[in-house]
Amino acid sequence: MNKKIVITGATKGIGRAIAEKFAKEGWYLALCARNETDLAGLKFALVNSHAQILTMKCDVSKKEEVKAFAEKINSKFGAVDIIVNNAGIFLPGQVINEADGTLETLIETNLYSAYHLSRTLLPEMIKKNTGHIFNLCSVASIQAYPNGGSYSISKFALLGLSKALREELKEHAIKVTALIAGATYTDSWKASDLPPDRFMKPEDVAQTVWDIYHLSANTVVEEILLRPILGDI
Ligand SMILES: NC(=O)c1ccc[n+]([C@@H]2O[C@H](COP(=O)([O-])OP(=O)(O)OC[C@H]3O[C@@H](n4cnc5c(N)ncnc54)[C@H](OP(=O)(O)O)[C@@H]3O)[C@@H](O)[C@H]2O)c1
Repeated sequence: MNKKIVITGATKGIGRAIAEKFAKEGWYLALCARNETDLAGLKFALVNSHAQILTMKCDVSKKEEVKAFAEKINSKFGAVDIIVNNAGIFLPGQVINEADGTLETLIETNLYSAYHLSRTLLPEMIKKNTGHIFNLCSVASIQAYPNGGSYSISKFALLGLSKALREELKEHAIKVTALIAGATYTDSWKASDLPPDRFMKPEDVAQTVWDIYHLSANTVVEEILLRPILGDI
């Protein structure tokens, strides 16, 4: 039977690279983003993989939308094998002077999204005692930096969610991995003057998800830290 992966924010960057990798390997995919045109384009691009692809326009920062996405997955796919909590945004700023509401926006998008998606999908996975959750954390999850402000707070919290889920899910043989990623060349960086070679490739993050998932049932990678070869930017 085909395995199933859920990826939030799958139309661009790291999420898209993961979607392409798993589609190529014949997995069924459940994918979301806010832009419907991009989602249709992604589905079209993946059509040759013959994978079954469920797409849904969903703003994961909105509790009701992310829960509706998860409920659709539960009804169409049943228990899934992998959840990738990838959708996230970066807003630069400092706690002392960033715009009012920045923390709320980042926590809703980068943290609550993963909390609600995981909580709604997990009951089906727990019935089968199998599955793997990957959370797209960041170097900002372990290290604050100037102009990182609320982004860093949201990513520290996502690492905290990963640790809490890891403890809760070990008895159900469901693995949890925090992907602590450094600068990766995606749309979020294309406006910068730095060359693509200064960054990690999204395909390497996708390959990491693939490799970690395929370890034996005995082992879980709880955290993995990936950085550009020249270090942080
Ligand atoms: N790139 C890096 O250097 C880097 C480093 C460490 C960690 N990360 C983390 O990795 C994840 C992916 O980053 P990326 O650079 O690949 O991002 P990206 O290229 O900007 O793509 C973001 C994806 O998420 C979707 N998205 C954004 N907000 C959403 C929302 N509220 N609801 C649903 N979908 C949403 C976007 O589509 P729509 O706009 O259509 O919704 C898009 O498909 C993020 O969590 C980021 O914090 C990135």
